[in-house]
Amino acid sequence: MPSNPYGSDGKPSPAYEFRGVQVGNHNVQHNTYAQHVHVPAVVTPMEKLDAPAGLINLPERSALFVGRGGDLRRLRDALAASSGSVVVTAVHGLGGVGKSTLAAHYAETHRAGHSLVWWITADAPTSIESGLACLAVALQPAVGTLPLEQQTEHGLRWLATHGGWLLILDNLPGPNDAATLLARLPGGQVLITSRRTTGWHDIATTPLSLDVLEPGQAHELLTRILTRHDPAAVTDGADAVCAELGHLPLAIEQAGAFMAETGTSAGEYLDLLGRYPAAMYGETAEGGDTHRTMARIWRVTLDRLADTPLAGKVLRMLAWYAPDDIPTALLNGFDDELAVIKALGRLAAYAMITRAGEVISVHRLVQAVTRTPTPMTFTALRSTSHTRATTPPARWPWRSGR
Ligand SMILES: Nc1ncnc2c1ncn2[C@@H]1O[C@H](COP(=O)(O)OP(=O)(O)OP(=O)(O)O)[C@@H](O)[C@H]1O
Ligand SMILES: [Mg+2]
Repeated sequence: MPSNPYGSDGKPSPAYEFRGVQVGNHNVQHNTYAQHVHVPAVVTPMEKLDAPAGLINLPERSALFVGRGGDLRRLRDALAASSGSVVVTAVHGLGGVGKSTLAAHYAETHRAGHSLVWWITADAPTSIESGLACLAVALQPAVGTLPLEQQTEHGLRWLATHGGWLLILDNLPGPNDAATLLARLPGGQVLITSRRTTGWHDIATTPLSLDVLEPGQAHELLTRILTRHDPAAVTDGADAVCAELGHLPLAIEQAGAFMAETGTSAGEYLDLLGRYPAAMYGETAEGGDTHRTMARIWRVTLDRLADTPLAGKVLRMLAWYAPDDIPTALLNGFDDELAVIKALGRLAAYAMITRAGEVISVHRLVQAVTRTPTPMTFTALRSTSHTRATTPPARWPWRSGR
């Protein structure tokens, strides 16, 4: 059976029958034990399949969303541009500036106008493929019995033969990385987020360059974080903190979590940041000033977590995995179970990680900062023997290139 069930004319390949065919590797087994009998799956051609009403795949988002009214309108207009073919737009900007958050908010707000809304983390070719495979299985669970390559093809086929959908490719490295996929899509809307700033005009209508928050929006975000659990919390000086952090949403979120968790005032927090001036941190490939801002926050938070050294160790370990959906079970045996639970709780309280059920996410910018040795790390390396915890494990195999 060919791995691609569709011919070059887009029609199902004659060698690949969908309806009534037994799929999977088990259909020739004749086992007398009931638990080993596999019910043959029947796969309906994707072009004949409607999406179940309201089928969406979107990441969990923070309940706090501020500003971006103009950006949301620009996105809507760009995606509404009717060209008779697939409409693509791209949101690009610095790490932590809020691209994914904007895309998720847009998708959530506009979900009712789409037959399907599907989010794919697109930071590697394999993640696009597995995202399409997940789509196919969500549309038709029987597809799950097929090899992954065919699942991917089924997902693509559904998109190619239907309209009215919105596909989000989050964190795409660059325009070329979507070329193969886009070439197969005659209709629908594709929203891309990327740190890459150039090259989008070739594939996207009106690419949107996303900037940091406006000062008023940044102030609103910080005060909402500070007063979320304590409406009486003092918010004086919030403007100064936002300005020091360059109005970067990720930085404000983490600084706010620290201040709220520890009862630190704006003035005290600025003093803490002052211990780690930006100039201490070198330029990095992962984004000069934002990286330095995050490095300062990270140092302040880690100082505070000195009473839970395991928290820093856990974060350094998590920094080497892909950022989303890291199974908590990976930490089994890392240390005493209760100590690990406590460490994770503290990291979450300071917004260094987010947890959803049994999985953990660490923002990719926090990971980048965590992986970068700081001036203090070098001092520590010279004066202690903890080299194993701080030396980047370059040979670790499971990160994909970031
Ligand atoms: N408009 C906003 N309102 C409230 N919080 C925001 C907003 N934009 C971003 N944030 C917060 O800032 C953090 C960083 O945002 P996000 O992950 O969207 O950045 P990004 O630009 O996609 O970064 P990267 O390039 O690293 O993927 C998120 O945790 C999010 O909750
Ligand atoms: Mg993002």
